Amino acid sequence: MALAIMGSGGDAPGMNAAVKKFVDYLYDRGETPHLIYDGLEGLIDGKIKKAEHKDVAGILHRGGCVIRSSRSKRFYDYEYRKQAYENLQKNGIDGLVVLGGDGSFRAMDVFSKEFPVNFVGIPTTIDNDIYGTDYCLGVDTALNTIRDALDKIYDTASTFNRAFVVEVMGRECGYLAVISAMGSGAEVCVIPEVAFNRPVAEARLKREIANGRNYILAIVAEGTKKTQEIAEWIEKDLGFETRVTVLGHIQRGGAPSSYDRLMAFEFAVRAVDHLLESQRSNKVVVYQNGHFDLLEIDTVVSNKYQLNPRHLAMLNILD
Ligand code: F6P
Repeated sequence: MALAIMGSGGDAPGMNAAVKKFVDYLYDRGETPHLIYDGLEGLIDGKIKKAEHKDVAGILHRGGCVIRSSRSKRFYDYEYRKQAYENLQKNGIDGLVVLGGDGSFRAMDVFSKEFPVNFVGIPTTIDNDIYGTDYCLGVDTALNTIRDALDKIYDTASTFNRAFVVEVMGRECGYLAVISAMGSGAEVCVIPEVAFNRPVAEARLKREIANGRNYILAIVAEGTKKTQEIAEWIEKDLGFETRVTVLGHIQRGGAPSSYDRLMAFEFAVRAVDHLLESQRSNKVVVYQNGHFDLLEIDTVVSNKYQLNPRHLAMLNILD
């Protein structure tokens, strides 16, 4: 069988490892891997080629994605989706693996309802916001990048009697903020899922300041759009000289952690195994409670990811 792989939407560390495993594993199984360059934009433009070993040599340890990715506006139009489908047909592609996040899976859901594509998704986003899976490729590396930054910020904050407000990515999801706040011992964590109770937080921090606290670390999820507001509150009402750090796109880059390399392999092998057995799949490989499974894409995109209540309970500074 001829299978193809592509990236779509925001990149995440581990994509290259998944692409490499996809190619190597298919050749091991006597099948033919193809690469689609530039994501859905490339699919529309027919940028599809048969993969050779040299295309994926030396990429395992690199961040980003050698076959690149895109956020395609054209794919919203039926005419371009039709063109994309025709390109798959022209190249004799029997099955498609998409490394993507929520937005890409929504696009693939529409695509697979309109055209008889044999498709499987691998949840790939640092946001960890996809329904039905506890883990998305790239999250561990992003968390380690944030941890590294926070450890450094803590050093300077505690030396200068200052407050630092650090904005982390995650779109509408507070996962990165919650796990990072837990791991860094932050005093404040503001996320979209939980209303920030400022009076309660203020009373707690004032007590701590009276007992000698001389720095504050606040993690704010970008989806709250409250970074400046929190900084002004800390400066004016708690009396700390405050600095804001927006970590931004460094969270998306970097060499994948060992865990992300492992997960890339696990996801890729399962995606390939599934496609080789199916004529018409529209599923996503998910990782739930320590086990891999496959979920209908329709289920994945029509439900909202919920933060683990145990994580929220462990982080007792949400208000
Ligand atoms: O979905 C991944 C992500 O990095 C989000 O955390 C962030 O909001 C968004 O992508 C940034 O998108 P762009 O790279 O298009 O600016």
